[in-house]
Amino acid sequence: MKRSFKISGLLAITAATALWGCSGGGGESLVSAPVKTPVVEEFLVSEPGDVQVQAAYNNEIIAFRFAWKSHAKTFPEGSGNNGLVYPGQFHDFMQHNGTAFAQVAEEERFNEDRVSFMIEEPARPAQGFAAAGCYISCHSGMVNHKLGTSGFLDHWHWRGGRSGPMGYAEDAWVSDVQRERDTIGAPPSSWLRSAGDRLREDQPAFAADLTGHSVLTDRLPRFVFNKGKQMPGGFEIPSHFLAMENGAVVTAPYTQLPQVKDVFNNRSLLVVYQDRNFDKSDKVNAVDLGYLVYVANNGQLNQLPTHLRDTSSAAFATWAGFWSAELGIAADPNNFSAASAARNRLDAVHAEWEQSGRKSLVTRSVGFIYPSDQHDIAATRAFDPIRGIWSVTMYRKLSTGRPNDTDLALLKSGTLYNLGVAVHDVGDGHESHHISFMHTLGKADTGTDIKASLVSDVSSVNWNDVPAFVTSLYQPGTKTGTFLRSTAHPGAGVFETMKCQTCHTDVKAMPGLVAR
Ligand code: HEC
Repeated sequence: MKRSFKISGLLAITAATALWGCSGGGGESLVSAPVKTPVVEEFLVSEPGDVQVQAAYNNEIIAFRFAWKSHAKTFPEGSGNNGLVYPGQFHDFMQHNGTAFAQVAEEERFNEDRVSFMIEEPARPAQGFAAAGCYISCHSGMVNHKLGTSGFLDHWHWRGGRSGPMGYAEDAWVSDVQRERDTIGAPPSSWLRSAGDRLREDQPAFAADLTGHSVLTDRLPRFVFNKGKQMPGGFEIPSHFLAMENGAVVTAPYTQLPQVKDVFNNRSLLVVYQDRNFDKSDKVNAVDLGYLVYVANNGQLNQLPTHLRDTSSAAFATWAGFWSAELGIAADPNNFSAASAARNRLDAVHAEWEQSGRKSLVTRSVGFIYPSDQHDIAATRAFDPIRGIWSVTMYRKLSTGRPNDTDLALLKSGTLYNLGVAVHDVGDGHESHHISFMHTLGKADTGTDIKASLVSDVSSVNWNDVPAFVTSLYQPGTKTGTFLRSTAHPGAGVFETMKCQTCHTDVKAMPGLVAR
C-alpha cells in the first residue's frame, strides 16, 4: 500500500545512519557513526497526540520508526519553557545549590521526551495483553510495570536524553513481578559505582569531606564534558558544562535549553566509558575529574569508587589506561608534566564554572556502552524544528538468541505480534504518560495494523515508501485497570478478551481519558 500525501516541501535534517551489517553474536553494536543526511520527511501526524508507526525488515534486522508531533511543554509548571515546542533531550540536570551540584527539586525538573513500546512473545503470551495492553503491564495501579501472571513482554524504550544521543534505545522486559534489566555492570563498566552501572546511571557530586583541589571542595560532579574534543561528524564539544547551540554555557535552563533544537550534536549525555570492541564509533564525550585529581594530586584515590582505589587491580589498570589515552595525560602522578597538565585541566573546569556565576549545569545521567542484551537496540533520531516533529527509528536483530528479547523472526512466516505504544512528550514523564490501544504487527499481507515491509537493506529504507499506521494516544489518568475491571465500567466483562477500540472507536472523544 503506497500512501498518498502532500509533500510538504520542507527540508528536514535527519540523522540517518551507516548501519553495520553485523551478523554473528549478540554483543556487537548495531550502529556506527551517524551521518547527517538531508531528506524530505513526510509525516502523517499533524497534531500532537497521534503517533505514526512504521516497520521494515530484512532477513536479519527489523527497524521500527515512530513519528509524533511534539506538544508545547507544560512542565515544570510556570517555568520559562512552558508553551514552547522543542525536543526534550535534556533530563534531570544538576546545578550547584551553594553546597554541591545536585538535582533540582522534583517539581522543578526538566524531563526528556520518550517513545517506547511493549511487544508480546507469541510463545510466552501475557494474559489479556492482546486486548487490554498497557492496562495489563502497568496501569493497574499506575505504580510499576509488571504482569502479575506468567508471561513476558519485551520493552523497547528510547529516551531523548538518556539513550537517544548515544544512538541506542534501552532494551528492558516485563516479567510477572517487575520491569527488568540485565545485571551486567561489573568492572570495567562500573566506573561510577562499585557495582550495578547500567546503560545510564546517575552521577552524584563529589563527597563532602574531600580535599585536594577546588573541584572537590566545591563539590563539582565527577564527570563533565570534554571541552574541545572533536566528535565524529565534525562536532567540537564547546564547554565542560551544558551549552547552547552557539557554544555559550547555559545558566538559565528553562529559557535557554528550549532554544537547543539541533539534536544531532550530542550535548545532553555524558558517555563516560565505551567498549570499543562493541561499538567502534567514538561516543565518549566526558572528562573524569576523579582521574585528573589522581594524576594532579600525588595519586589521591579517595574521590574514586572503592574498587578503583586498588592501584594493583585489573579494574584500576583498565580505568587508568582508558583515561590516559582519552585525555592524553599519563596515569602517572610522579610524572611532572602529566601532573601539571591534569592540574591545568582541573583549574580550567573550575574557572569555567566560576565564570558562569556558578550557574552552569551538567546532566545527571551518564552513559556506558558495553555488550549486553540491554544495549542491542540501535536508534537514530531527528527533530524537525519547523514542524515540531520527532522521528525515531530503532533497529534490532529479528532474533537475538536472548531469552530477554521477543523473537521477531516469525514475522517472516506471517505471525502477528501484539504491541502497544507509549509516548512521553510534555516534559514530565509522570504527568504525561500517553498510551495507545493495542495493535498488531505483521507482514504486509496479513491483515495487520502495522504492516512491516520486507526490504533489502533496512539501513537505507526510504520511509516515505513504507506504509504508515497512525494511532491516537491518550492519557489514562486515574482510570486504572482496577476501574476498568469494576462494575462501573460497561466493558468490564470483556476486559481481557475484547480490544478497547471495539467499543471506543473515537479515542479523542472518550470521557475519562484525556486525549492529547
Ligand atoms: C464491550 C465494550 C467496551 C470495551 C471492550 C471497553 N469499554 Fe470502556 N466503556 C464502555 C462503555 C459502554 C462505557 C461508558 C460509555 C462511555 O463512557 O463511553 C465505557 C467507559 C469507559 C471509560 C470512561 C469512564 C468514565 O466514567 O469516564 C474509560 C476510561 C474506558 N471505558 C476505558 C476503556 C479501556 C481502556 C478499554 C480497553 C482496555 C475499554 N474501555 C474497553 C465499553 C467498553
